[in-house]
Amino acid sequence: MKPIQLNKSIPIPLYFQLKQYLIQQIENGEWKPGDLLPSEREMSELYGISRMTVRQALIELVNEGRLVREQGKGTFVAEPKISQGLLRLTSFSEDMRARGMTPGAIVLDRATIPADLKLAQELNVPEGDPIIRIKRVRLADERPMAIEQSHIPLSRFPSAAEQDFNQISLYKWLEMSYGVHISHARQTIEVGIPQPEEAEILHIPRTMPILLTERTTFDILNQPVELAKSIYRGDRYKLTVDLQR
Ligand code: GLP
Repeated sequence: MKPIQLNKSIPIPLYFQLKQYLIQQIENGEWKPGDLLPSEREMSELYGISRMTVRQALIELVNEGRLVREQGKGTFVAEPKISQGLLRLTSFSEDMRARGMTPGAIVLDRATIPADLKLAQELNVPEGDPIIRIKRVRLADERPMAIEQSHIPLSRFPSAAEQDFNQISLYKWLEMSYGVHISHARQTIEVGIPQPEEAEILHIPRTMPILLTERTTFDILNQPVELAKSIYRGDRYKLTVDLQR
């Protein structure tokens, strides 16, 4: 780490100057994801500022998802966030491949449940109809990114009860096994805090915000094929949208 001169005579707070400097180091690739930062003490000596000032800069960078703190190990440069466009309907596997990562899934649970009112309405089936619920942790380069809970009608896709969804993309499977052409979806996005069990599965602190999405996906005949509730790591995603006026 190069020593830099923080300027004490300008009206820009020192913690903010340090923060901007650290951001620059990350953005120009001087520090790479996974790199360990010097300790608070080392930085305070290096820059001639108090540990409190260093801490304030680090806390903000952790909150903004640029750094991660690991108890007893130190502070590391975070993986960059995935920029997710909001207008194209893609599968998780397509999203990860488009970013040069290998998608994966581990099925945590699969159950056949009777459709409650909401599922019946969303999936256009009678209430009580059997629905397959598949809960998967989604991986990018073997690291957890999201938890997805998909609901699909058993009557239309009976072999979903046996298919191994650890190995295949759900959208690909629907297409290959049932000739489903996925065409459009309706999705909501909210911010939340993970349940303790979800935080553990995603390897994130319990206090880290998550993105909660709910998507009903339709085929070209306008028939709903899936209702999915997903949880995405707040430190790994940002949403991008092009605006016009
Ligand atoms: C997205 C959607 C989910 C859908 C998944 C399919 O992540 N939010 O609703 O289940 O894509 O991804 P894949 O085809 O990789 O299983």
